[in-house]
Parts: sequence; C-alpha cells; structure tokens
Amino acid sequence: MDNNFDVIVIGSGPGGYVCAIRSAQLGLKTACIESRPTLGGTCLNIGCIPSKSLLNSSEIYHKATSEFNNIGIEVDKIKLNLSKMMANKTKAVTILTKGIEFLFKKNKIIHLKGKGLIVDKNTVKVIENSGKEINYKTKNIVIGTGSVPTSLKGIKIDEKNIVSSTGALSFEKVPKELTVIGGGYIGLELSSVWNRLGSKVTVIEYLDNIIPGMDHDVSSEFLKIMKKQGINFVLGSKVTDIRSAKEKNIVEFINNKSGKKDKIECDKVLMAVGRKPNIGKDIKELGVKLDKQEKIEVNAKYETSIQNIYAIGDIINKGPMLAHKAEDEGIAVAEIISGQAGHVNYGVIPAVIYTSPEVAQVGKTEEQVKKENTKYKVGKFPFLANSRAKVNNDTEGFVKIIADEKTDKVLGVSIISSLAGTMIAELALAMEFGASSEDIARTVHAHPTHTEAVKEAALAVDKRPIHF
Ligand code: NAI
Repeated sequence: MDNNFDVIVIGSGPGGYVCAIRSAQLGLKTACIESRPTLGGTCLNIGCIPSKSLLNSSEIYHKATSEFNNIGIEVDKIKLNLSKMMANKTKAVTILTKGIEFLFKKNKIIHLKGKGLIVDKNTVKVIENSGKEINYKTKNIVIGTGSVPTSLKGIKIDEKNIVSSTGALSFEKVPKELTVIGGGYIGLELSSVWNRLGSKVTVIEYLDNIIPGMDHDVSSEFLKIMKKQGINFVLGSKVTDIRSAKEKNIVEFINNKSGKKDKIECDKVLMAVGRKPNIGKDIKELGVKLDKQEKIEVNAKYETSIQNIYAIGDIINKGPMLAHKAEDEGIAVAEIISGQAGHVNYGVIPAVIYTSPEVAQVGKTEEQVKKENTKYKVGKFPFLANSRAKVNNDTEGFVKIIADEKTDKVLGVSIISSLAGTMIAELALAMEFGASSEDIARTVHAHPTHTEAVKEAALAVDKRPIHF
C-alpha cells in the first residue's frame, strides 16, 4: 500500500465514517483511522445504537408486564432475562459496525487501525496496537474524534458504581436504586430503560426543568409524563459530592434556592451532565485554535486555524452534539475538499429524545422566538384528539407549530408522541423548503395516522383545527 492519501479522516464515528465514504465517492484517495477495535465511534459502539436497543427491548418488556393484559393479550410469568437482552444489544452493534467495514471495502477506503496523531499539516502518524508507528502523507486531514463524558469536579467515573452512559448500557443486573445526575438526553433515556426494568430511579437536575434547550411547554409536559412513569425528580439542585459507603453510594446535593442540603442512597450513579470534545495532545501541541469550551474553532468551510486540517462533529464549536449533525458535516467537508459547495443548515437540525413517548424538536422554541422579538402564532394539537393515537391507546403528547405572525413561515416545531422522532422529518423538510403553516395544512395526510396531528396543528395556527 502506498502511504499517500488525498484525505485522512481521524475517527470513524458518524462524522468520520460518513466523511470517508463521501470523500471516496468523490474520487479522493481516502483513509480512516480508528483506535477502537470496531468502526462506528461512540454512536454505534457505546451510544445511540446500544441505547436504542435497550430502549426498544425495555419498552416491549414494560408493555408486556403492564399493558398487554388491557388489550386482551394474557401472558403470565413474564421474566426478564437481562443477559439475553444485553446479548441482543451486542448483536445489533456488531451487525452495524460490520456494516461500516463492508461500506469501507465497497468504497475502497483504507481502514487504518490504531491511534492517529497529527504530526504536521500533511502527515499523520498511526500508532498500532502492537506499538508500531507508521507515518502517512495526506493532502487533507479531517478531525472527527468526537466527545467524551464529563463529570463533576472531584468525582471520578469508575464505570462500576459511578458510571457514564457506557457503564449504564452494560449493567450486569438491574440496579435496585439508580441515581441519575443530569436531566438531559442521556439521563432521561437511560432513566427510562432502568425504570422499566425495575430500578427505583431518581434524577437530580441542576435547573428547574428537564431537557434544557427544549421548548418549555414540551419539557413541562414531558416531566409530568416521566413522573407518571414512576421516575422521581429532584429539580433545581446541585450535586455536591458522591461518597461510597459499604455497598451503597451516597449522593449529596443542595437546593439552589433554599440552600437545604440533602442526600440519597443508591447502588449505582449515572453521571449524565454533558460531554466534552475529545481533544488529543497532538491537537493542542500543533496549536489548533480552540474556543473557551476547548472546542475546535472552524470557519464556514470546516477549516481549523491550520491549513489543510478540517474538523467536524462533536469536537467543533458549531451546532449540537448530535450524530446526524456530524454526518451532514462529514458530507459537507468532503464536498468542500473536492471543490464543491458543501454546507449544513444549522437552523434545521432535528433533535430527538428516544423515550416513550419520544420528544422531537426542529427549528426554534417559543422562548427563542420571544427573545428575538419576532411576532409569532402558535398552533397546538393534542394526540388525545387523533384517531390513530386513540385506537392505539397512545394519546400522550401534542404537536406544537410556531409560525411567523406576518409571513406564516414555520419557525419551529415540537412534538411529544410515540412516533415523534420519525414524524419530525416532515417538519424538517417543510422548514428546509421554507414552508408556511398553510402549506402543511393544505398537504393531504393519510388517515388514520399520527401525522394528521401535524396537519391539525398547522390548521390550529390559523385557529381552525377540525378535530379539536
Ligand atoms: P445534556 O447536556 O443533554 O444534559 C446534562 C444535564 O445535566 C443538564 O440538564 C444540566 O443542567 C445538568 N447538570 C449539569 N451539572 C449538574 C449538577 N451538578 N447537578 C445536577 N445536574 C447537573 O447532556 P447529556 O445528557 O450528558 O448528553 C450529552 C450529549 O449527548 C448531549 O449533547 C446530547 O446531544 C447527546 N446525546 C444525544 C442523544 C439523542 O440524540 N437522543 C442521546 C444521548 C446523548
């Protein structure tokens, strides 16, 4: 193999592997370096994919134990086999990571196994597991090394008692009590999994509401739903310490307003207070410019402060830390490198929490629109009035559309529904095409489907829903 490439991508997460595939499609001689034994990064190996497997399995288990009977499916002696559930998760991860290997072969991408270190703007060193070091020459380097979990000051994640999402996706038995620090994406998805499988779950969140960044209407309603499912919440409280005593952990926290101190005893603690960019020593030593949060600063072309070195995904100072954002940046940067005009529309990036029901959002929240002093209209439609949701005993949630008061252009949409994550795609597409709420209202939606609630919410913007 000759050691000269057009593009070397460091990291094979959704940003990196997609960038490698698009680069190869465009005729660039491409290599992708990965230090894990399998391709796919955090998302496929220890993030989005294994968590969705456990969310799916635990939801079926929950339905079997508490809902099947109501609809005339009588099953007795339902028993959880956690190791089998975990094996099913591992199988899904293996199939998907192998799928990327296949795509690499198909696109003639060279998979370099080991740790990639940037030596200079045209040289990348790979340290293989055996310790062997090989230098590769390249015209362009794309950094896609993602992010790692953060912890609280002085508290160490040991992945046994105090775990990150990685540990919480692989518990060997159902924790009796699980304390979750942080009511964001990871906190709520994994609280749902272990709550359904029998843990007593308490979420401690610093802010007064969960999922910061989501529309307040949505987070308040979602909080009610999560509480109804049996998850306990301690809001407006800061975790100050975690001590290990015998077999239990003691989580200490303080109420932000009253200053009252309290503690909770549990056998596992999940730290879900956010993630930080995975910046290697080489990046710092090279002098790649970072912002205050230690994210790589990139321009509109994803160029870092050093020529020929690009960066994408969780590691950059643009957009949310989401796999699909990274994927689109991967495509854009490959197109830019090959002389095309790749770009990502940061105003239209859907965000989904895969709980039950799911929560999805695209565009602006009502709070953001208010802050910008934009005059707006709101149309809201509850799934209680949607026939398919009613038939399926699936009536929690609503669709909320925010449109510009004057132009009627859709500014943002939030959905709480069992199908929210899938339904939000229609709204992302509508926004990408600059649709008005009237455009959505005049689009025929199949009956009976949950999507009719989108049409109805659009009609509600004009105060004329049919079924509510
Ligand atoms: P997050 O940023 O979503 O939530 C962290 C939460 O921890 C915040 O609500 C914050 O107020 C709270 N917090 C911070 N310090 C605290 C303290 N001392 N005491 C109590 N609460 C405290 O971060 P999370 O959930 O760790 O997720 C990390 C990233 O992974 C996110 O950026 C998210 O976008 C991504 N992710 C996306 C998923 C999806 O798309 N479904 C699923 C999982 C993760």
